[in-house]
Amino acid sequence: MAKNILLIISGGIAAYKALELIRRLRERGHGVRVVMSAAAGEFITPLSVAALSGQPVHGDLFSLTEEAAMGHIELSRAADLIIVAPASADLIAKAAQGLASDLAATLLLATDTRVLYAPSMNVRMWLNPATQRNVAVLRQDGAAFVGPGDGAMACGEFGPGRMAEVPEIIAAAEALLEQSCKIALPTAASGPLAGRHVVITSGPTHEPIDPVRYIANRSSGRQGHALAAAAQAAGARVTLVSGPVALPPPSGVHVVGIETARDMLAATSIALPADIFIAAAAVADWHVAHTGGHKLKKVVDGPPHLTLVENPDILATVAGMREGRPRLVIGFAAETEQVIAHGQAKLLRKGCDMIIANDVGAGSDVMGGESNSVHVISAAGVDSWPKLDKSEVARRLMALFATKLQDAT
Ligand code: CTP
Repeated sequence: MAKNILLIISGGIAAYKALELIRRLRERGHGVRVVMSAAAGEFITPLSVAALSGQPVHGDLFSLTEEAAMGHIELSRAADLIIVAPASADLIAKAAQGLASDLAATLLLATDTRVLYAPSMNVRMWLNPATQRNVAVLRQDGAAFVGPGDGAMACGEFGPGRMAEVPEIIAAAEALLEQSCKIALPTAASGPLAGRHVVITSGPTHEPIDPVRYIANRSSGRQGHALAAAAQAAGARVTLVSGPVALPPPSGVHVVGIETARDMLAATSIALPADIFIAAAAVADWHVAHTGGHKLKKVVDGPPHLTLVENPDILATVAGMREGRPRLVIGFAAETEQVIAHGQAKLLRKGCDMIIANDVGAGSDVMGGESNSVHVISAAGVDSWPKLDKSEVARRLMALFATKLQDAT
């Protein structure tokens, strides 16, 4: 699957990783043309980029020699995929606003080729509402994102902002290359949820202990992914915020991959507004307070004494939104005993409109299995369904949500 990739390198300490990215992409048979922003030149030299890519490096919008050799616009037209790595806050902002003030921004504006951004910036810059707004706009326009990851940063702070590692960027790029790489123009969908936006969380979360270990749970993501597929089939635009799962992304669904509960909340807030929010993820209740930057060593560090801190409750946060609350907010309850009573308590505690409760106790194969028997709990009462395949549960639930939504509008 050799493809033509246009790599845009913007300024940032992670620019050095772009050299490794070029090398690995070429090893996998892809052709790589590179555009460097002026700021990128402060971190790595065009000479090393040209040597690794085997192509001249482009940087100047008004270079006559470059224009004569290959029209700038042609650079992005000839590409099957554009990767922006590292993607600085500045370039993301320019792209979101449609500015064309330098070559990198011009190419992003002039293309209909799919763009994959690997953001890299200080944690406060990443979490700043302005950056989050820009990311949401680009996603809405069809761009894909990989990372940023959590961890210790070059600036001495800790949190999301580190550029994704090269293998992750390559995996995301090749997944996009397998799909059609041109931005799909919106087509008029039909079905009971046509014109609606549905945001769904799915899968487990991974809460790091150190760079190689994490706390997780047995969720497979099957039910959440089946709901996303059912919502898409019902005509909705679907954003699936998914923890690490071994499932293929449902077709036609925008998948945002995350690892931790905090990332899941951030990605969910970016994905909103929506008509329906469904919290199907098995979110870890706690994260480790202090995750070291190095792997804990058995002999040196001894058994760790982990201090756990409560994670944000994504369902309760969305259900409690004063402005822009989705009209229908649905939660799941995984219980091992007193399933209905606990489900009813959760409905009240979380402030959602409906709880889909299921028994995950000993003897049940719900977590990771193919089928599920659920109790649909709302203020109106409890409806207990027979054991059904998870995709059938998803189809029936989606039909129910569509009716509820219609009643509510
Ligand atoms: N949930 C969430 N964010 C959390 C915890 C849970 O969004 N931090 C959502 C789940 O996606 C699910 C619902 O809340 O829709 C119930 O999750 P569950 O794990 O069953 O409940 P908890 O809140 O963890 O309560 P408990 O541990 O008492 O069962």
